[in-house]
Amino acid sequence: MARLATPPASWTTRYPELGTGLVSYEDSISPEFYELEREAIFRRAWLNVGRVEQLPRKGSYFTKELAVARTSLLLTRDLDGQVRAFHNVCRHRGNKLVWDHTPRSETSGVCRQFMCKYHGWRYGLDGQLKFVLQEEEFFDFDKADFPLVSVHCEVWEGFIFVNLADEPSQSLREFLGPMVLGLEGYPFHLCGERFAFKAQILSNWKIFLDAFQEYYHASVLHSQQQVPSLRSFETGYKVPHFQIDGPHRLISTGGWKGTPRHLLPPEQMYPIEPATQAGLMGPWERPDIPELDPANLPAGLNPGNLQPWSISNFQIFPNFVILVYERGWYLTYQYWPTSAGTHDWEMSYYFPPARTASERIRHEVTAVVSKEAALQDAATLDGTQQGLESRVIDKYPLSDQEITVRHLHKAVGDWVQAYLRDGKGTRA
Ligand code: FES
Ligand SMILES: [Fe+2]
Repeated sequence: MARLATPPASWTTRYPELGTGLVSYEDSISPEFYELEREAIFRRAWLNVGRVEQLPRKGSYFTKELAVARTSLLLTRDLDGQVRAFHNVCRHRGNKLVWDHTPRSETSGVCRQFMCKYHGWRYGLDGQLKFVLQEEEFFDFDKADFPLVSVHCEVWEGFIFVNLADEPSQSLREFLGPMVLGLEGYPFHLCGERFAFKAQILSNWKIFLDAFQEYYHASVLHSQQQVPSLRSFETGYKVPHFQIDGPHRLISTGGWKGTPRHLLPPEQMYPIEPATQAGLMGPWERPDIPELDPANLPAGLNPGNLQPWSISNFQIFPNFVILVYERGWYLTYQYWPTSAGTHDWEMSYYFPPARTASERIRHEVTAVVSKEAALQDAATLDGTQQGLESRVIDKYPLSDQEITVRHLHKAVGDWVQAYLRDGKGTRA
């Protein structure tokens, strides 16, 4: 049988450390490997848990359930305006401090103090213990010795990151590295209108990341939503720019001459798309906001200098993705493992706040049409997980267009190996 040579101008061979060999997905089906990931990755890497818009004023708070790290976090904006993170655990007898309907559901709100539902201890937004019922009955007791346990927390471009290590081995900026820092200056702060979805997915977290980090699948899995020139079961689609920096990845796609109104022939659109002038790529008209004009965006957003440019997909290790669209909006994905074979998936859309009812409707149409595409991606995951778990096959080929899949599994393996080697999660 004829073997094909390595493709010329291959993206993969630009990163020789990746190799071109067959790849095992044992890392996505092994319960033992999942236990290692929890320590080696999710208790050592910087993790994005939300945006500053979720803490709009002094006293705002939200909780974040991190089953993968066996903890719940409490994020607050204290009375000085500082964003803080704590383990959501009462210092008295360990009760989860902040929750509403059930202890396992996330919540948010605004308050001045948090009161434990068990014996009424109260904590300030800065984590200090403020009130103890019958304090005089405790022994050698000083409230100052019992603040909430704080978690390392840093904010970058409005994204709130936490690190569960006792002492992170890198600052957040060191961890993000130059490629991701190239996003600095994008007007995230002007995109405060948020729509969010959450789903429980029957696959390992990396399997869904993989489904969103290559476009090899696009012409087949999303055949209903592709421009005719890209929509071909025979010729597929080639990404014009890949980039790798440390454990992070970037995929940029080129745009179309003219506006995306021509993205699909009318008969292929949902009727609401031409009716509202919005769809998969966003509102057809970019908002008239100078900071969102592509000419004013940071060069690092489109480091391949694609002209025209359409989307940059930043895959930030381990489980956070930012997609910035040329039409003046962005979305994020987060993948929170709940077991070796399941995870919770979060999708958030961010737009400049609508100034008219029409703009608001366009945002909502963009969100639901985009969610439809995402559900197409999600539809194969249970099947992939089942196929992998059968262990009928132990190694699989990856094409040059799947360099990002190869890289993610290597980065995960490197972090686990580093943890096993020195227990400190030294960066690969
Ligand atoms: S466990 Fe919180 S006050 Fe007792
Ligand atoms: Fe997809």
